[in-house]
Amino acid sequence: MSIAYLNGHWSKPEDAKISVFDRGFMFGDGVYEVMPVYHGHIFTLDQHIARLKRSMAEVRIQSPLDASAWKVLLEEAVSRSGEQNALIYLQVTRGVAPRSHAFPDHHESALVVTARRLRFLQGDGVDVITIPDIRWKRCDIKSISLLPNVLGKQQAKDSGASEAWMVDSGGQVTEGTLSNAWIVTERGELITRDVSHAILNGITRQAVLRLATGAEIAFSERPFTVNEAKAAREAFITGTTVLVTPVVRIDGEPVGNGRTGEFTAKLLAFYARHMDNQGKET
Ligand code: PDD
Repeated sequence: MSIAYLNGHWSKPEDAKISVFDRGFMFGDGVYEVMPVYHGHIFTLDQHIARLKRSMAEVRIQSPLDASAWKVLLEEAVSRSGEQNALIYLQVTRGVAPRSHAFPDHHESALVVTARRLRFLQGDGVDVITIPDIRWKRCDIKSISLLPNVLGKQQAKDSGASEAWMVDSGGQVTEGTLSNAWIVTERGELITRDVSHAILNGITRQAVLRLATGAEIAFSERPFTVNEAKAAREAFITGTTVLVTPVVRIDGEPVGNGRTGEFTAKLLAFYARHMDNQGKET
C-alpha cells in the first residue's frame, strides 16, 4: 500500500496536500532522499540519513526532526505501508512563505515522506546516451531542483535509451541523470568518477566500493572520457532505483560484445546477495 507523511500527519498520498507557497514548489528550494526497502528493512538507512543531513546543512534548511527521530519515522513509514519491498521518498523544503527569493526570517521546514511498493528488478542490460552536463556546480547536494536531470532522462527515453550520461566541458562523464556511471577498461580497471561537487556521491556507489574493497578488487575513482567508456570492456550504472544495471550500448555503440559483462554480472549477483544478507541481519 502507498502511504504519505506530511508535517506530522499520515494519509494516502493523494490526500496529502501542500501549500502553493511551499518553497519547494515555488523555487525547488529543498533536498531529498530515495531509499530502498528490502525484505522489510531500509537498506543503507544510516548513510541516507547522513547524506540528508549534509544536504540540509549545505543549503541551510533546518532539520524538521531531531537526529534520533529520522529512523523512527522512516521505520514507521515502512510498517504503515505493510510492504516488504518498497521505495521511500523523503523531501525537506524550506517550508511555506510568501514568494521572495531570500530565505524567510524564520522558517518551518516542510517534511514529506512517501512509501510505495517496488519490485527491485535486476539484470537486463540498458542503453545510455551521452549529453552535455548542464547542471549547476553543486551536484553533490541532493537538491529537488532536477530539471536538467528530467530533460536528460526524457532525451534518453526519446532516443530509446534508459539513461543519459552527462558529460562535462572537458569531455569527461560526470554521472547519469539518476545513477552513477562506471566502466571496466580493456585492462580490467574498475573506474567510477571521484567524489567532488560534480557528482552525487551515491549510496549505492559507496556500497559497491565497500564490496570491492572487501573482495580486494582494485578500483580507481577518477573521471573517464566518453571515448574511454566506448572503448571499455564493460559498463554499468548504480543507484537506489537501478541497483547495479549493466550498460550494453553507449550512443548506440556496443560496449564490449554488447552483452552484460562478466564482471558486471558477478557484481550484480554479489550486490543482490549483500542486500539479502543485510535484510536478514537487521
Ligand atoms: N537518484 N546520481 C544522481 C544524479 C542521482 O539522482 C542518484 C539517485 C544517484 C545514485 O545515488 P544513490 O545510489 O544514493 O541512489 C546518482 C535517486 C534514486 C532519484 O532521484 O530517484
